[in-house]
Amino acid sequence: MLHDEPEPAIPELFSWEFATDPYATYAHLRDNEPVRWTRLPSGVEAWLVTRYSDARNALADSRLSKNPDHHVPGESDEPAHAKGKTGIPGERKAELMTHLLNIDPPDHTRLRRLVSKAFTPRRVAEFASRVQELTDQLIDRFAAEGEADLIHDFAFPLPIYAICDLLGVPREDQDDFRDWAGMMIRHGGGPRGGVARSVKKMRGYLLELIHRKRAELPADPAPGEDLISGLIRASDHGEHLTENEAAAMAFILLFAGFETTVNLIGNGTYALLTHPEQRERLQRSLTEDGGDRTLLETGLEELLRYDGPVELATWRFATEPLTIGGQDIAAGDPVLVVLAAADRDPARFTDPDTLDLSRRDNQHLGYGHGIHYCLGAPLARLEGQTALATLLTRLPDLRLAADPADLRWRGGLIMRGLRTLPVEFTPERSGT
Ligand code: HEM
Repeated sequence: MLHDEPEPAIPELFSWEFATDPYATYAHLRDNEPVRWTRLPSGVEAWLVTRYSDARNALADSRLSKNPDHHVPGESDEPAHAKGKTGIPGERKAELMTHLLNIDPPDHTRLRRLVSKAFTPRRVAEFASRVQELTDQLIDRFAAEGEADLIHDFAFPLPIYAICDLLGVPREDQDDFRDWAGMMIRHGGGPRGGVARSVKKMRGYLLELIHRKRAELPADPAPGEDLISGLIRASDHGEHLTENEAAAMAFILLFAGFETTVNLIGNGTYALLTHPEQRERLQRSLTEDGGDRTLLETGLEELLRYDGPVELATWRFATEPLTIGGQDIAAGDPVLVVLAAADRDPARFTDPDTLDLSRRDNQHLGYGHGIHYCLGAPLARLEGQTALATLLTRLPDLRLAADPADLRWRGGLIMRGLRTLPVEFTPERSGT
């Protein structure tokens, strides 16, 4: 660079440019203010933690509570609180909001143990052929067209149908779920209007379904039993799970597993389409040598590290004064761990801004860390790997149908994902 050339400007936090590419801003924060007090777009202030070692420690620190009752709002937070617009989920005291991501031990330990019994890696593995079938059916719908919006036509419906099937929502009701989930994603989880109505409808439906399944539950579990029946069974063996808790559990599985997976498929496909050399490597590995999945497995983890769906971990609140990265934090302060910044920290990852699908030393924080580590990681891996492998093998010349500069990213605080992903490809001939 010539010495009189100005330094490129770094996008301001939460600006439009930042939503498109936040990584230069995060690098600047990591180097200069690794634990920074920041006003969020909602008006509420919180600490942003951006270095990998601080982030990992904070995620496992029991002095950081998930219970929003520990939040002590600052004076400048008042307007946002008065309008009920902090973005902190606990401000909506709906029953569905008392779930794993808003509670601490011992309640968290009890509920997580119950759901872990029902949501085992084995149950997920048994589900592999169904995910493949769903993936193929969705691709069948647009394969002959030669073009698609991969978010609307593929990344959005796949996880909602998959989770509905896993939970045991009957097929004829799944389109209602798709509509309710669509409403929540479009409006970013705000408390009013359509979102509140969708949450209410979902809750009513889930309570009724749980009630019905409890009444019809056979004495012994059948092979491939659905997750809601598994939850009821777990609660019937000594440990108590109320119908409200079971509904909140079904809701968090749906909510935590939906938009994340949409964005895993969206961000992952986008990264592959904009890194042709890596994409060709992956495509070759899937089609040659009888289809080796090693690169697919390491590659999916790398896509999560490089541009994962969860940009910031969910809210945490200091229950006592503590220090993170040399910075004093007061009791009651909100702390937001920036997973996307930690996962590009050069102190932890070699060439962190390079996408390397074969990266081995890759303990990324994309699924979190500690007691709230993603419960759905095995399902996310199954869906992500199936979706990407099937897209690349069935539509081998898949390419972006838009200039990357014209693509729009959703501006939400926690999630990172594209609004649309227009692609084109040679149409599949029917019968192929
Ligand atoms: C597709 C990619 C996914 C990513 C990147 C992801 C990421 C995460 C992260 C970062 C957390 C921890 C949040 C925190 O500590 O603040 C988390 C928790 C959780 N995830 Fe996922 N998730 C994904 C998919 C899923 C799926 C498919 C499900 C279920 C169907 C799921 C269910 C959950 C649940 C229930 C928790 C809360 C666990 C607890 O608090 O004990 N996730 N996830």
